[in-house]
Amino acid sequence: MPRPQRWPQRLKLFNYHKWAGITILALSALRLAWRLTHAPPADLPMPAWQRAAAHAVHRAFYVLFFAVPLAGWGYSSAAGFPVVWFGVLPLPDWVPVDRAWADAFKAVHKAAAMALALLVLLHVAAALKHHLIDRDGLLRRMRPFQR
Ligand code: HEM
Repeated sequence: MPRPQRWPQRLKLFNYHKWAGITILALSALRLAWRLTHAPPADLPMPAWQRAAAHAVHRAFYVLFFAVPLAGWGYSSAAGFPVVWFGVLPLPDWVPVDRAWADAFKAVHKAAAMALALLVLLHVAAALKHHLIDRDGLLRRMRPFQR
């Protein structure tokens, strides 16, 4: 009887998760390049603390967009499971196979993913507050081709 973590279905789901995560890493690089070359719309009028909080959350998003998948990739490398993107593109292992490194990357991956999930909730709550309570048109600014 195979141990539960060796079940083929579980390994398949891990691979889907890794492929999606590496795709997110690539899209994050594109997004960062776009953001660095395109200025966002000017801030809406709001108290200084809210503007500072919004900017801090946005910066944290960019850090986590890279930290979460990179830590997952590092964990896979250190655990000795190379990533083959969509089963066709083998990615380099950038961490030596080592139990201690694997544990460390796994802990970072989990903590960073949880932090990202919490920030997403905070971000959505703040956007809804602007839309429903302040009614300041913040969400409408996300429509493409406005400028
Ligand atoms: C934005 C992208 C990603 C997100 C949001 C994410 C999120 C997560 C979460 C929430 C877990 C469960 C953590 C736990 O409860 O222990 C997890 C586990 C895992 N992730 Fe990711 N992940 C991402 C990308 C990746 C990538 C790119 C890889 C590898 C190339 C990867 C490899 C793994 C592995 C191997 C586990 C299982 C850890 C275990 O042994 O339990 N992840 N991920």
